[in-house]
Amino acid sequence: MDMRPTRGRRHRIRTAVLLVSAWASCWLVVPVGAARLAAAQPVGAAPLDGRALFVDKGCAGCHAGKGPGPDLTARRGAENFWAFGAAAWNHAPAMRAQMAQGKVPWPSLSPDELGALVTFLGIAVEEAVDANLTEGKSMLVRKGCLRCHALAGEGARIGPDLTRGDYRSAVVWLARLWNHAPSMGERFYQMGIPYPLFTGPELRNLFAYLRPIAPASR
Ligand code: HEC
Ligand code: HEC
Repeated sequence: MDMRPTRGRRHRIRTAVLLVSAWASCWLVVPVGAARLAAAQPVGAAPLDGRALFVDKGCAGCHAGKGPGPDLTARRGAENFWAFGAAAWNHAPAMRAQMAQGKVPWPSLSPDELGALVTFLGIAVEEAVDANLTEGKSMLVRKGCLRCHALAGEGARIGPDLTRGDYRSAVVWLARLWNHAPSMGERFYQMGIPYPLFTGPELRNLFAYLRPIAPASR
């Protein structure tokens, strides 16, 4: 039997080699940028495994059917990115209390780690594009953010100026919110400010409003 590849097959092989090398070179470039966002991930490291992170960060212990939290794996693919972000924010105080009971520290998440986790949960990252900007602005007042945060140098100094944040992407911002949630929640409590709850569209509108006025992220 003739084992030499046919013309069509040779073409397919060549295409495959080209695709693989194109993929490999993207892959070498992308982590350099990504590594700036997440110092924890060394340059050139393999993409993070969301399933492994779900276990390593402790989420699985509470969120995979048996723990005290809702089963996040059961709704794979059914959730929207901003709804997930809002749910994480809204439940952060109760989640933190649960962790404190078990003497588990709040798991910090780099943007890459959060990205891998949501991918594992079947949630597509949605950069805010058609958000309602006016709504975003009034929300900063309504939700009490400006009682602690300044906006472009004006206002309260308890938290960092919100225009100094990092708005390069929705995942970067949400990772920051996640990481600061426990210390922020503590301040709400100390100052007697009611902890504000968000719907998904509200959080998205807020991000969309802040992003263009934050010079550091452009
Ligand atoms: C020690 C247990 C514990 C750990 C660890 C934990 N959570 Fe939770 N989580 C909870 C509990 C309990 C709730 C429900 C809180 C409530 O009732 O307000 C919750 C709620 C949530 C919600 C809101 C779910 C919804 O829609 O109602 C999200 C999202 C979430 N957790 C994400 C995570 C992620 C991501 C991790 C890992 C990085 C994690 N949690 C780790 C206990 C935990
Ligand atoms: C009671 C005071 C207080 C209120 C109210 C408050 N924050 Fe914060 N916030 C803080 C503090 C303090 C930090 C820094 C926490 C830390 O270092 O972990 C912080 C950190 C942050 C960060 C991370 C830092 C950054 O610039 O990226 C974001 C994002 C943020 N807050 C958003 C908000 C939003 C949105 C609201 C309104 C819903 C809000 N905060 C309301 C006190 C507050």
